[in-house]
Amino acid sequence: MNFRQVDARADVANVVFRRIEHLLATKKTPVFALPAGSTPLPLYERLVDATLHSKLPLGRARFFALDEWWSESVPATATFRRFLLEYLLIPAGIPEDRLASLPTTGDAGATATAYEEAISRAGGIDLAILGIGGNGHVAFNEPGTPLDSLTGLRELTEKTRRANAYLFTGESTVPTHGITVGIGTIMAAQTIVVMALGQGKASIVKQLRDSPVTKDLPASALKRHPAVEVIVDRLAGELL
Ligand code: GLP
Repeated sequence: MNFRQVDARADVANVVFRRIEHLLATKKTPVFALPAGSTPLPLYERLVDATLHSKLPLGRARFFALDEWWSESVPATATFRRFLLEYLLIPAGIPEDRLASLPTTGDAGATATAYEEAISRAGGIDLAILGIGGNGHVAFNEPGTPLDSLTGLRELTEKTRRANAYLFTGESTVPTHGITVGIGTIMAAQTIVVMALGQGKASIVKQLRDSPVTKDLPASALKRHPAVEVIVDRLAGELL
């Protein structure tokens, strides 16, 4: 697992942007797995700008959302699908059907199988773009998730629900479960980048570097992948 520290948030975005640009230059229809959350926002801004002003052919790509809330009562505005549409596809002028995502309710088992099949049919993920939770979760794979897990339901920790309360009307309304690609699904990607921004991620970034592979720190599983890079800004890397 390679750690790369750059200066600012925009520099982290730029490193990942270059990889996306390269994949678009070398593949007709590259497949990206995308996170929601605050971490990818500078990247999405950069991608929108380059699509609108520098003819980046991002509309040729296919996108799979990494995860979604699982609850009967998620407001449509709080879904990760909505987030990715709002911050990336719509402003970039990319048709919504280029984004595959997970539903918030239904038959979880059938949904999970169908998602894995859709990723396979698309030719697999070329680049999985990840954030990292304060407890080391990736997508919604919380500590304790088996390292070979595929897409499925996960119970969310209090810490994760608290961190996401800003998307809802308070912590009590944050869903207790999420549906997510598994660690095994992410490990099957050709390449993986983990982005971390800000001082709040400094401790987990250091733990990740120092940790053996363990299901107590889900992101540590990625150490077994041959092409994974963790890209951090100055603050997220200050304990390295
Ligand atoms: C959330 C999401 C993850 C995200 C992580 C970090 O719970 N399910 O996909 O990467 O936590 O979020 P943020 O980027 O807002 O710190």
